Amino acid sequence: MTDTVRVVPDTVRDGVPPGPRLPRAVQTAIMLRYWPGFLRAARRRHGRIFTVDIALTGEMVYLADPADVRTVFGGDPEVLRAGELNGAFLSGVLGDTSVLVVDGATHRDRRRLMLPPFHRDAVRRQVEEMAEITAANVAGWPLGRRFPVAPRMAQITLEVILRTVIGTRDPERLAALRAALPPVVNMGTMAMLAMINPKLLDKRPWRFVKRRIAAADALIYAEIADRRADPDLADRTDVLAMLVRAAGDGTAEAGRHMSDVELRDQLMTLLFAGHETTATGLSWALERLTRHPAELDRAIAAADASATGDPAGDEYLDAVAKEILRVRPVVFDVGRVLHAPVQVGGWRLPAGVTVAPGIGLVHADPDVYPDPERFDPERMLGPVTSDGSPRGLPPLSPSTWLPFGGGGRRCLGATFAQVEMRVVLREVLLRVHPETTTARGEKQRVKHVTLVPHRGARIRVRPRG
Ligand code: HEM
Repeated sequence: MTDTVRVVPDTVRDGVPPGPRLPRAVQTAIMLRYWPGFLRAARRRHGRIFTVDIALTGEMVYLADPADVRTVFGGDPEVLRAGELNGAFLSGVLGDTSVLVVDGATHRDRRRLMLPPFHRDAVRRQVEEMAEITAANVAGWPLGRRFPVAPRMAQITLEVILRTVIGTRDPERLAALRAALPPVVNMGTMAMLAMINPKLLDKRPWRFVKRRIAAADALIYAEIADRRADPDLADRTDVLAMLVRAAGDGTAEAGRHMSDVELRDQLMTLLFAGHETTATGLSWALERLTRHPAELDRAIAAADASATGDPAGDEYLDAVAKEILRVRPVVFDVGRVLHAPVQVGGWRLPAGVTVAPGIGLVHADPDVYPDPERFDPERMLGPVTSDGSPRGLPPLSPSTWLPFGGGGRRCLGATFAQVEMRVVLREVLLRVHPETTTARGEKQRVKHVTLVPHRGARIRVRPRG
C-alpha cells in the first residue's frame, strides 16, 4: 500500500467543485444506465471531489478521498441528513416512521431501539435457520447446466428474512408472504414513479402499486397481532418479537413500545434493505469465485474447515465476503443532504446540496488498494497469518472499507449480512462444486439502488463427492 498524497489547499472555496458539464437530463440518463462507469470517469477527470447534476437530487458532490468520507460520516447528523434523501424515494412504501427515512433525534432513538436484534449474539442464534434454508434451496439447483444463481440467492435471503426477521412459522402464511412481499420492495420503474410522486397512487395505471402494498400490509399486520398475542413472546428470538418487546430504554422515549404502524414500517424496511442487497453480494461471490480457480479451491477447503468448527475456515469465508463487497459493492454510494454549509475537501459546500461518499470510488482507488480490480480475498485477512507472521497489510478502516455506509447511519444489518454471506457460501460449497469458467466477468447493472451482475451470475455446478 502506498501513502496517499493529499494536496491540502491553502484556501477554502465557496460553492461546489467542478464536474461533468453535460445538461442535467443527459447526466441523469447516463447515471441510470452507467452509474459506476460515469462516476469513475468523472473521478479520473476531476479528481477526488467533483459534482454531478441529476434530476430529483440536484447537485451531488461525490467524495473519493477517505479523509473527506471520514468528515462526512463523523459530521453532525442534524446538518448531514440521510433520512430526508431516502424518504424522497422510499417513504411511499416504507412508511413515514421507517428508520431509513427519519432524521435527527427521532432517528437516533428508533435506531437504538432496533439495535439489539442485530447484535452479534442475537445474529448467532439465527445461523442454524440460515443454514437449513440454504441446504433446502441448493437441493433444488440444476446440476451440470448453466443457470443464473441470483434468483436462487434472492429466494434464500427472502426466506431468511421471513423466518428470522418476521418470524413466520405457519406454512400458509409463509407462502402468502413469499408471493406478496417481493413485488412491493422490488419496485419497477412505474412503481418508482409513484413513490416519488405519491399522488399517482390513486390514478390509473398506478393503482396496482397501492393494491400490492395493501395486500402485503394485511399479512404483516396479521404477524404483528400474532406476536403481540403470543404467550411465548418473551422466549422468541425473531427480530419482530424483539421489536415488539423493545421499550426504548435509554432513549427520550423510555418505556414506550412501537405502535403497529411503526413496527410495520420497520419490517418493510428490513425486508427492503436486507433481501436483494445480501442476495446480490452472494451472487457476485459465485460470479467472482468461478473466475478465480485458486480462490475457489481455497473457499471450498475453507467451507470444509468451517463445517468442522475450524475458525480459519470462517476467517477465509469472511475474507471472501469482505473482498466481494469491496470489489463489487452492492450499493455504490450513500448520500447526505446538507442543512447548513459544510467544509470538506477544500470547499465550503452550501446548504441544499447532497454529499455522496463514493463507496465504489474509494474501493477502486489504487492508493488505498493496490491493483484494485483484482479479486484477492487474501487482502481482507487479518494483519497476521495463522502462523503469526505479518501480512504487511493495514487493518481496514471505516473510511477505506465502507460497503455498509458509515457513521450514525451505518447499515443496521451489517453483522447480519456478513454472517449470512458466510453461512450461505459455506452451505453451498459443502454441497456443490461450482465449475470455473474463462467467460468474461459479468458487468455491473443498475437495479433500483443496487448494482447486480447483468446476466444474473450464471454458473454451472456439479455435486460434491
Ligand atoms: C450485503 C448486504 C447489505 C449491504 C451491502 C447493505 C448496505 C447498506 C448501506 C450502504 C446502507 C446506508 C448506510 C448509510 O447511509 O451510511 C444501509 C442501511 C441500512 N441497512 Fe443495510 N445492507 C445490507 C444488508 C442489510 C441487512 C441484511 C439488513 C437487515 C436485515 C439491513 C438493514 C439496513 C437498515 C435498517 C439500514 C438503515 C440504517 C439507518 O438509516 O440508520 N441491511 N445498508
